[in-house]
Amino acid sequence: FYITTPIYYVNDFPHIGHAYTTIAADTMARFMRLRGFDVLFATGTDEHGQKIAKSAEQMGIKPLELADRVVIQFQNLWSVLNIKPDDFIRTTEKRHELVVQKIFNRLYEKGEIYKGEYEGWYCVPCETFWPESHIENNVCPDCGRPVEKFKEESYFFKMSNYQERLLQHIDEHPDCIKPESRKNEIVSFVKRGLKDQSVTRIKSSLNWGIDVPFDKNHVIYVWFDALINYLTVAGYGIDDKKFSLYWPEAIHLIGKDILRFHTIIWFTMLMAADIAPPKMVFSHGWWTSEGEKMSKSKGNVIDPFQVADEFGTDAFRYFLLRELSFGLDGNFSRQLLIQRINYDLANDLGNLLSRTVAMTVKFCDGIIPAPSHSYELYDKELQNLATQTVGQVIDNMEQMSFNLALENIWSLIKRTNKYIDQTEPWLLSRDKNKKERLEQVLYHLNESLRITALLLYSFMPTTSEKIWQQLGIKNKIEDMTIPEDVSWGKLEPGTEVNPGDNLFPRIEEEKKNISIAVEVNNEKKDKKNGGFEVESQQLPTISLAEFQKIDLRVGKIISVEDVPGASKLLKIKVDFKSEIRTLVAGIKEFYLPEKLLGKNIVVVFNLAPATIRGIQSQGMLLAASEGQQVVLLTTDQEIE
Ligand code: MSP
Repeated sequence: FYITTPIYYVNDFPHIGHAYTTIAADTMARFMRLRGFDVLFATGTDEHGQKIAKSAEQMGIKPLELADRVVIQFQNLWSVLNIKPDDFIRTTEKRHELVVQKIFNRLYEKGEIYKGEYEGWYCVPCETFWPESHIENNVCPDCGRPVEKFKEESYFFKMSNYQERLLQHIDEHPDCIKPESRKNEIVSFVKRGLKDQSVTRIKSSLNWGIDVPFDKNHVIYVWFDALINYLTVAGYGIDDKKFSLYWPEAIHLIGKDILRFHTIIWFTMLMAADIAPPKMVFSHGWWTSEGEKMSKSKGNVIDPFQVADEFGTDAFRYFLLRELSFGLDGNFSRQLLIQRINYDLANDLGNLLSRTVAMTVKFCDGIIPAPSHSYELYDKELQNLATQTVGQVIDNMEQMSFNLALENIWSLIKRTNKYIDQTEPWLLSRDKNKKERLEQVLYHLNESLRITALLLYSFMPTTSEKIWQQLGIKNKIEDMTIPEDVSWGKLEPGTEVNPGDNLFPRIEEEKKNISIAVEVNNEKKDKKNGGFEVESQQLPTISLAEFQKIDLRVGKIISVEDVPGASKLLKIKVDFKSEIRTLVAGIKEFYLPEKLLGKNIVVVFNLAPATIRGIQSQGMLLAASEGQQVVLLTTDQEIE
């Protein structure tokens, strides 16, 4: 199993886009290793070309010096993000230069490369040649930045010869370009006709590249050079045994902007060199930052070092792969990340572990008991779900559906939490006759967590190791195999658990300075009635979909304070189990603080926070009013 990321340009520091693909590739590599595959996982840096030469020139340093500086940043980031590639390739390495020249020679000797003259446009940021017919207003059709025009001697690759073969290949290998929608785009692009591709630059205009072996006046085009990295890593021309093992098994993970290079140019280059195209190119979507395109000028580029430092590597890895379907675009926001940490990681997973380990200590002296053979309904349900989850996770990972695999794992986590509520071990512990049942339940809880940890390992290695350690399992997690070791019942009774720290402490949102989308000041609205809209208005009908956008939740009031200087406002803390929130509400005239404490109220949970009298109000409570009377909406019965 061979998996690659793009090799990254060294003109700039790593951002979330680089982190995203590389985390995905690392996760897949780890997963396939657990599946028993021989895995080659590679990443690296793309160091030649005009873009790097220009940046270095602006900084007054040599291109290689710039590359040396930036490469360290990438390598540091991979270590911070717990990414463990088997190979890190730099295109300035000798081993790569030799392979590029070898392929170039081969194509030249076969008559696939010929000398001619290039006249047209070039986009430096994208390192793309553009014919006159594609250019309007002197900007790049892909990135919208200015393009340069030039005319110079150049070698060309006869790409136009490969149009039909390429279409046939795509047709015969339906999975070679993913997702499907991207494949269709490529097919229609190819059908519009392929032109020959310029594959060198004359040294008088650019000399930062690999020399054309038989013509010292030319350097090889940076994309021709860069794409070949995938062959170099696999041992092409250096280690035939290695090469035949990994090629053409390659899966290239890339962003959607570089799909044409990776399918059209790359596949046809390989065909011309009599090498089979890679098994799959998977193109993922792009992240926006708080809903906006990321750009240096906007200052909203997300720094992966900072996110990992603030929230932890595993939470970051989890968020990126859980939040969106690989292939679609998505939005990175602190608030969404914090919610994922608080709900999924702290509440669902962290609590499950701490409850399970604490109960094992309390009720079984810290030793995982042996289960009896009599299974009750809940036991069977849990066991069946665990078995089913393993199959689903494997299927989804085969489709690169990281988010669905995580959803599967979370169904098991949630089901296990529910199993605690259903079996109520604390009640069983009070009845001596139920000791066997209690032990059964605790075995199942620990077993379900063991399976969860193993399934989760590829996504969150450190977290899984911590779970493993708290469960007291001695074997190394990376020595396990899927599916063999995730079958139910493999947990050894007699293992001693090690209670440890909370896996994911909950993050208090107010401390994290979440950006405030809308400023609302309730006090201004209606001076007479504590901020409530008193007149009943006939509002337009809304659809179910519109209603479903409103996140209404029940929470319990746990503290009530005055707001200094405000006669109508109270500062109320509400416990939602997943987190505690502060609300500022205009109900002081209607309720004594002690009457509010302990009430379950209904809150609009996803209302944009508003700062009222310097206090951030994180939601709005619901109440009904008539004349001067205001009453809170509460629940009919006690409920979490
Ligand atoms: N050097 C080329 C790749 C050569 S591979 C033979 C290159 N390098 S890059 O440094 O620009 O890397 C870009 C990668 O980051 C691409 O896969 C691109 O899609 C991805 N992303 C850049 N911005 C992104 C987001 N905002 N979101 C997700 N990925 C993004 O291209």
